[in-house]
Amino acid sequence: MSDGFSLSDALAPGSNPNPSAPPPHGWPSWGSQPPAPGAFPGYAPPPGPYPGAPGAFPAAPGAYPGGPAGHGLYPGAPGAFPGAPAGPGPYPAPGQPPSGPGLGPHPPQGGPAAPMKVPFEMPLQAGLIPRMLLTITGTVSPNPNRFSVDFKRGNDIAFHFNPRFKEDRRKVIVCNSLFQGNWGQEERTAPRFPFEAGKPFKLQILCEVDHFKVAVDDAHLLQYNFREKRLNEVTKLCIAGDVTLTSVMPTMI
Ligand code: GAL
Repeated sequence: MSDGFSLSDALAPGSNPNPSAPPPHGWPSWGSQPPAPGAFPGYAPPPGPYPGAPGAFPAAPGAYPGGPAGHGLYPGAPGAFPGAPAGPGPYPAPGQPPSGPGLGPHPPQGGPAAPMKVPFEMPLQAGLIPRMLLTITGTVSPNPNRFSVDFKRGNDIAFHFNPRFKEDRRKVIVCNSLFQGNWGQEERTAPRFPFEAGKPFKLQILCEVDHFKVAVDDAHLLQYNFREKRLNEVTKLCIAGDVTLTSVMPTMI
């Protein structure tokens, strides 16, 4: 696995002079991307406008702050996620959730926030789509062993993101895929381990054209190249292990 990437890789193949170079500031600027608002393929449009996010989805929660330039993951970007309203969003983001089944944020907004059950499952009705962002907030358990975030295609796991806190007394992030009951080769190249026992975290997984990007607490962590290419069949997100969850929010960026 290579952690080097560039957004331009995805958008204009071959245009990056040094695709293996780490990005200078987390994920690169999103400025060159086409505007995101609009359709979420496969879903009916929301019934009404989202405050601050015309026609689209609620702000990508805080993560890619649309806040002042120079702050957050995309310094200098006018807002990390085009289409997100300016200003850092609270968790969960204000506004109505996308209306497609299985697409709403968890916990559902507007009611009292019940604790979210772990293991947690969320359908991704139309499967994964490039530029789909999953923002997961939660807290690591006080004495954790491991937790995992799995993007599943049936019983296969297209992407298994698995922080382990106590593997031979070390902490390591393991990424892998499971096909027909068999694990593939593990990728263990995350340059750091950003999770801490008892601490809250924000984990963001962005589906790109041929890989996932993972950021924790607004800093890029790793990327994982697709092994399963049938994105539209990857229709379930599962979170299990030693965490409590506060919110799980799909957005399009
Ligand atoms: C196995 C473990 C699985 C999964 C896999 C990833 O050893 O039992 O839960 O984490 O590694 O390669």
